[in-house]
Parts: sequence; structure tokens; C-alpha cells
Amino acid sequence: MEQRATTHHVHKLSFILLILSLAFPSSSFELRPSVADSTFLHSNDTAISDFRVLNRRALFQCPDLNPYLQINVTTQGDLSDEQFITVNVSGVLVPSDGDWVAMVSPSFSNVTTCLGSEAYYLQTGDTSILPLLCHYPVKAKYVTSDPSYLSCKNQKCQKYGNNGDCEVRTCAGSLSFHVVNIRTNIEFVFFAGGFSTPCILTKTDVPLKFSNPNSPLHGHLSSIDSTATSMRLTWVSGDKEPQQVQYGDGKSQTSEVTTFSAADMCSEFRLGSIVVPSPAKDFGWHDPGYIHTAVMSGLQPSSTFNYKYGSDAVGWSAEIQFRTPPAGGSDELKFIVFGDMGKAPLDSSAEHYIQPGSISVIKGMTEEVENGNVDSIFHIGDISYATGFLVEWDYFLNLITPLASKVSYMTAIGNHERDYSDSGSWYTGPDSGGECGVPYETYFPMPTPAKDKPWYSIEQGSVHFTVISTEHDWTEKSEQYEWMKTDMASVDRSKTPWLVFTGHRPMYSSLGADDQFLETVEPLLLNNKVDLVLFGHVHNYERTCSIYNSECLAIPEKDKNGIDTYDNTNYSAPVQAIVGMAGFSLEKFPDDAPSWSLVRISEFGYVRAHATKDELKLEFVNSDTKNVDDSFIITKK
Ligand SMILES: [Fe+2]
Repeated sequence: MEQRATTHHVHKLSFILLILSLAFPSSSFELRPSVADSTFLHSNDTAISDFRVLNRRALFQCPDLNPYLQINVTTQGDLSDEQFITVNVSGVLVPSDGDWVAMVSPSFSNVTTCLGSEAYYLQTGDTSILPLLCHYPVKAKYVTSDPSYLSCKNQKCQKYGNNGDCEVRTCAGSLSFHVVNIRTNIEFVFFAGGFSTPCILTKTDVPLKFSNPNSPLHGHLSSIDSTATSMRLTWVSGDKEPQQVQYGDGKSQTSEVTTFSAADMCSEFRLGSIVVPSPAKDFGWHDPGYIHTAVMSGLQPSSTFNYKYGSDAVGWSAEIQFRTPPAGGSDELKFIVFGDMGKAPLDSSAEHYIQPGSISVIKGMTEEVENGNVDSIFHIGDISYATGFLVEWDYFLNLITPLASKVSYMTAIGNHERDYSDSGSWYTGPDSGGECGVPYETYFPMPTPAKDKPWYSIEQGSVHFTVISTEHDWTEKSEQYEWMKTDMASVDRSKTPWLVFTGHRPMYSSLGADDQFLETVEPLLLNNKVDLVLFGHVHNYERTCSIYNSECLAIPEKDKNGIDTYDNTNYSAPVQAIVGMAGFSLEKFPDDAPSWSLVRISEFGYVRAHATKDELKLEFVNSDTKNVDDSFIITKK
């Protein structure tokens, strides 16, 4: 561990403050806020955890002269694209429940190579010796997650007395970390003091590197139009040279390569005179490598093909079998829809933002895909919850690959992808952590009109989907309003009898919604005879009657199987459902239900839908029990 002399530090501080005062005229120079301010400002928006504000703190070498301390990693050679590795801490004299281990990447995240960030920290008024962490840890774990640690079951005698008795006994613990190929070298750091008052005990000697940082990874599919004869594949690699997707019988397509940089992230969140730099640009930044995308064309709808992607230089993915969705206007579609899924660690470590239901929901949906029950997937906002901690996109992509590599994975943008102050988002909270939709649009290119206009429509089987961004201006005469009005008016209902309208924030929830959004957009739904409206954002499942202006214009009747059935042959109003129960911690309902709210379920799961020409059936599948906790049918003869 590098130790720096205090006098050197003071000189360096003076120098940086001098540079800052030259760079910013005194009238516009603003001091950065304290940790407490940052926590307060971000609370309720990004569910800030103690862990998240770590390197807003003064990290220093623990005053611990223990010569026996060690941290090492059990691995054989370089890291593969995905593995669990064991980290051992040993030589601990007094195990404490505040001892923890962080996985840090890139391994060169030390103060000597990030002067700019150091200046940020100094502006917080934090003048103590700065941490080796200029970047937020990828993940962390308390050593007490090894149940034998505190009781010192795994002990070693370090020093024997003359009589042969042990004079110095030390304890050890071991932890398992799930590591995916994030391209940059990683190291593990052993801390004491918990997450709130951390100090550094020691760190691994040699950074671990991935054996192939250029591996082509996380290939996921999306539709580009309603013909279902072309599919887009998007993947991640450390290499910027174009690669290829090889598919079908000997076809191939070369990738377009893109990326984004810290400069593309939103800069800062202002509240009056207080300025908080965005995590995305500062301590949450992680280099995304390169994002490759290529369109496989010449396919048939509702058909099965194989593909692999990569290049001879960087290697190839496994051969993957996928299915194209049915063409728009064909008879039938089976799709899955949900919002607010995110990710959770597979090693029960701490990350900055965890959605506890995501693992069981992904598992349930993967089984559906493997059983051939799914033509396409719609994830309607709040995608990864990386929210400025960019390495979490890699972990999210890793989790969804079993689904998204096999069927079309379509998305809508949510507040946690887009919102930030002074950035053009309709809502101005800092919910995206400074991402401002840039990583989202890069990882999930949808058939949208232009950059930062993330709305589109697509037809699959008997359904027309109008997908909007609730995070961009939807007021009357806005570009998006005009677009959705035109789009819905143009639907040929003899071709696609079902019109499904979807986006992120709801119009109706027992927990409240934006009245202005309702008043502005709801008339379009009625005018265009929208059958079904699906939103997320609220973290539960709720279904309405056929609703307009907060009143039930019709209520469903039970069919012979006891399933709620809405008869849209004589159309009255849309049915609205909230499907934000796919991962984020669930929200409870208030005791009193509004009269329009027919079903309210606060359980993790996803919605499975089956559309024919004359029936649209939806089922809420509880991912923990696999039971169908709600189902309803909309009919049209
Ligand atoms: Fe949301």
C-alpha cells in the first residue's frame, strides 16, 4: 500500500486549489457538497445506499500495523468470461463485523491517475489523504458472509512461544465473487470500518486480468420492423474493429461499432447553488468497451435460425438458436411484458442498486423461452438500474442473455435511463445518475426516429404496439404527441385488430400518477380505440376496468372458466395494467382501492400474453410460485 507524506499532500492540495481558482472565476466557483448533501439530494430518486457514497468519503490506510494481513484470490490463470472466484483474507488478529472486501475495476483506480476526480473530492472539503479508489467498487461483501469468520474457526498460529504455545493466532475468511468479463483489470481491496467509515487494510498484489477482454459478449436481439424478416443483434466487446454475425445458411453481416465516453454523460445535478457531479461522469464511470450491432436480413417470420458473432481475431460466441417473431398482420403472437426489472448479484454481494426480484423473474421467463412459449419480449422501462454506475450494465446484459439472445427483446425508456436536470428530460429528477439515456440507446437500439427520440411502433402477429417515452415531452403539439396521434390513427385494424399502448410511467395507479399525463394523452387512447395500456414505474401489478377519465365505462364479465373478460366488440375504453413487478422491491397497496382498480397484486413476476385475431389473453405469472395470480381476456368478434 502506498503511503504518502502529509506535507506532500498539503502541497498538492494547495496546487490543485490554485489550478481550480484559475480555472473558475471566483464568482462562478461553487464548492461541492458534502456526503450528507449528496445523500439527501439523491434519496428517493436512486435509492442511494451507504455503499454508493463510499468514495465521497475520506478513505485512508487503517491504523493497523498487523504484519500478517493478506488478501489473495484463488484462480487458475487469467479470468474467463464468467466465473465465481474465491477471495481469501487471512492473518486477521481480531475479526470484526465491519470488515469487508471490495472488487475494484479498473485496477489502476488510484489517486495518482485521476487528478480530475481528486479535484472533485477536494471540493467537498475533504482534505484527508484520498483513497486508492477513484472509482466506485463494482461490488463488495462483508467478510461475515463467511459464517466461520467472526468465530475464527479458520485459524492459524503465527508465532509460537518458547514453551511451544501459540502466542499469536490469526483468523481467516473466504468469499465468493461472481465475475463477468468487464474487460478492465480487477483487484480486491480489504477494508475495515464498514461501509460508513471505511479504511483500507490491504489489497491484492497483482491485478487480475481477463484472458480475452475483446470477447464478443451479451448478444441480444431486437426487431427492426414489422416484417420480422430482419433482426438486429447487438453485442459488447473490448475491440473496436468491426466483427461479424454469421447466421442462417452461410449468411453474414459486418457490425457497426459504437461506444460512448464519460464526456457523453450528463455533467451535474444542481439544486440552487449546490452542484453534485453525476456518478456517470465521475466515480460511477466504467469504460463500456465497444458496442457492436448488425442486422440479420433475409429471414422468415416465425422461424428458427442459428447465429454466432465475433471474429477470427477476437473469437466467436457459441452457436445460438433464435426465433423470429410473427410478421405483423399474421394470426397469433405470444409475448411477455414487464417493467422495472434491473438485476441482482448472483453472489449475494452488495452493489449500488439491487432489484431483488429480478433473478426469479429472469429464471421464470427463461423457462418460458426455452419451452417455446415466447415470440417476443417487451421490457417497458427501468431496464438495468445502472443509474450512473456503468459496470452494472455489463452485469445486467449478462443476466438477460439467456432470454434476449433467443427472442426479440424490445424496450421502452424509463426514468432511470433518462432523467436528469437540464438535460431535456420531461421530468428533471436525477434518476438516471447522469446517464441521460446514452448507454440505454447504445445497448438497446430500437426502431426510433432519431437519437433521444425513443418512441416507436411495431407490429407482431395480430398486435400493433405503440411504444412511447413518458420521459420526453408528451404535451399537446410536442413532436412525440403528434407522432403517437398519427401512429395510432394509421393502424389498420383489419390487419392488427389489437392496439396496445405502452410506456413507462402510468396513468392509473392506486399509489398515484401524473394527472397532466393522464389529461393530455388519455383522449388519444379513447379516440383511437386502444384496447390495452401497459405501464410500469410503480412496483406492483394492478388492473383496471375499461377506464376513461377515472371512471369505469365498462367492467369485465366472467367467462365459463371464471376469467375476467372485457368485450371490445362494442368498444368502450382501454383496459390499463401496471406491470412494474419484475424486480424492484415491491410496493404495497393502500388499504382502500379506487373503484376503477379491479386487481392488485404485490408479488414478483411477469405478464404472459397470447393474442389471436379475436382474443387477447393476459396472465400475471408469479415468478416465485409459478402460479397464474391473475388472468384476463379482451375479446373482439
Ligand atoms: Fe420508473
